[in-house]
Amino acid sequence: MKLSWRGQGESLPALPSWRPEVVPDDLVWSGDNLAFLASLPPASVRMAYLDPPYLTGGIFRIGEAVAYRDPDNDPDAWLRGLEVRCRLLKEALLPAGTIFLQLDHRMAHAARFVLEEVFPGGFLNEVIWAYGAGALAQARRQLARKHDVLLWFANGPDHVFHPPRSEAPSSSMEQRWRRHADDRGRVTFGRLAVEATTYARMVRQWTRRHGRSPASDDVAFTLEGHLLRSVWTDIPEIRNSARYRESTGYPTQKPLALLERLVAMATEPGDLVVDPYAGSGTTLLAAHRLGRRSWGCDEGEAALAVMRERLSGTGHVFLVDPLP
Ligand SMILES: C[S@@+](CC[C@H](N)C(=O)[O-])C[C@H]1O[C@@H](n2cnc3c(N)ncnc32)[C@H](O)[C@@H]1O
Repeated sequence: MKLSWRGQGESLPALPSWRPEVVPDDLVWSGDNLAFLASLPPASVRMAYLDPPYLTGGIFRIGEAVAYRDPDNDPDAWLRGLEVRCRLLKEALLPAGTIFLQLDHRMAHAARFVLEEVFPGGFLNEVIWAYGAGALAQARRQLARKHDVLLWFANGPDHVFHPPRSEAPSSSMEQRWRRHADDRGRVTFGRLAVEATTYARMVRQWTRRHGRSPASDDVAFTLEGHLLRSVWTDIPEIRNSARYRESTGYPTQKPLALLERLVAMATEPGDLVVDPYAGSGTTLLAAHRLGRRSWGCDEGEAALAVMRERLSGTGHVFLVDPLP
């Protein structure tokens, strides 16, 4: 069977024999992600991000059209579907690759057992992404549910981790140091107003690192964002924030800032990032902006239409009807 590539006028050999010389760096596969995942070359993916339907029972629309349906009647089938996809991904991940699974209160607890089973000992973090205010109707009977859970698992030891920092320094750092810092946030030894013992310790550390003692205009430290812990409150959901301009209209679109943080944290430039539930293509765009390769898949017409527009100019090739 031949594969057709929209816009390229080329064809590719039948699956699953990917030939590296004809597989593009960036692609979007239309159809069920089971076939997509089964076709991934083994040990090739640095990071997978999964943002599947959460078992809400909802119908998600884009304008009048249905983007996708999310049934809520069979949690067991949902878990079986997840497990089979995670097992395929395990084969495709590099030994030093990692997987993020994003869910909410409905299935995150049960899905964690699946990941523990497929990636034994691989648990790294449960990140809480607290995305916004609102849901006040809910809050009359219980606390408003306004966070998602990101389960992060490693496929083996030695995974990539670049610790993320907040955009801005903490308010206590700001308060303490901003007036001593220059316009690039640098505090020099000449402006370092600290206790004598702290000053001596900082001088010792600087001297060890630079092989000489610091002059008064040498930089003692720079005001920068603090290292993030596992609860993230600094990225609002798209519809309630200034990020609204980034909205494609796709109903469950995640913020680019969230995906850029994950990609920067768990991959190196040039690595391959895979998103089998690509939706509006947020992960693929984040990966592109950070110089990573990205392969995505979605079975929805609406998602594919949004991605065609959003990813135009990124070099993503749309693989149409990959299997009969
Ligand atoms: C929560 S949305 C993903 C949103 C995405 N993260 C974004 O930022 O736009 C889930 C997506 O999974 C797709 N989907 C659900 N089941 C699928 C399957 N078996 N194969 C491929 N895509 C699927 C739906 O069409 C939907 O676009």
